[in-house]
Parts: sequence; structure tokens; C-alpha cells
Amino acid sequence: MESKSIALENEHDIAVARNEVRVLAVGLGFRLVDQTRLTTVASELARNVIKYARRGRMIAQPTRNPAGRNGLRLIFEDSGPGIPDIGAAMRDGFTTGGGLGKGLPGSKRLVDEFEIESAPGHGTRVTVARWA
Ligand SMILES: Nc1ncnc2c1ncn2[C@@H]1O[C@H](COP(=O)(O)OP(=O)(O)OP(=O)(O)O)[C@@H](O)[C@H]1O
Ligand SMILES: [Mg+2]
Repeated sequence: MESKSIALENEHDIAVARNEVRVLAVGLGFRLVDQTRLTTVASELARNVIKYARRGRMIAQPTRNPAGRNGLRLIFEDSGPGIPDIGAAMRDGFTTGGGLGKGLPGSKRLVDEFEIESAPGHGTRVTVARWA
């Protein structure tokens, strides 16, 4: 399956990204609970892009490991303000936006791989992956 790039520019795009992730997860044979994990993560991370960076994109990459296991990698990137202290941002309850501070730490718990790269003033990239 091919990678898909989805522009994140408004509230509606969050639903588009979420739906795309669901369709890919079904196609890759993820069970229902994993489909829900992945769509939840897509919503949270796409919402962060819109909320903190105004715009960005999600790249969804179906993958397969050497053992033949299907996986889905999701990359959320933006050119927004960046995250000055990633350690703080990953803490449960930390928010600069009046939220619950659960999006990043909650997302991390729902995937097998989780990485944040951020350069303050340049942008943020969050990469997650889950194996079926
Ligand atoms: N793409 C991003 N660009 C800049 N800062 C970000 C980005 N994503 C997250 N952050 C920072 O990390 C903090 C924690 O994010 P997280 O999603 O965990 O919580 P929240 O968005 O504040 O609240 P919640 O998601 O629970 O409604 C945010 O408050 C913000 O400071
Ligand atoms: Mg959030």
C-alpha cells in the first residue's frame, strides 16, 4: 500500500485524517481495538498540529517488518512554534493550551513506537507506529 499525505489545516481535516487511518488500519488487518487506538492517536496528534501550529500534515505509511507483520506508521509534521521542553510536554497534565495535557502521553501509550523531534521556532514532527 502507498503512503498517503493529508493536509491538516482545519477542524474538518482532523476527521479526514482519522478516517484515512481507519481505512488503512482495516486494510492492514488491524483488529478493532487497534483500529480505535490508531484513530484516537491520529485525532490527538492532528488536533495538536491545528491547535499549536495552525497547519501541517499527516503522512500515513503502511509498512511490513522482516517477519511479514503489517504495521502503520503515522508522521505528523508542522512548521509551528516547536516544543521547547519535550520532557515536560510528555508529562501527564502538562498543557500550554488550556487542555488536559493528555494528548501526547496518552498517544504514546497507544502505540509501539513513539518519537518527537522538535526545533523551537522551526516546527515539530511526531512519528508513531503500531504493529498488527
Ligand atoms: N505540534 C505541536 N507544536 C507545538 N507545541 C505542541 C505541539 N503538540 C503539542 N505541543 C505542546 O505540548 C503540550 C502537550 O500536548 P498534549 O497534546 O499532551 O496536551 P494538550 O494539547 O495541551 O491537551 P489535550 O491534548 O489533552 O487536550 C501542549 O500543551 C503544547 O504546549
Ligand atoms: Mg493535545
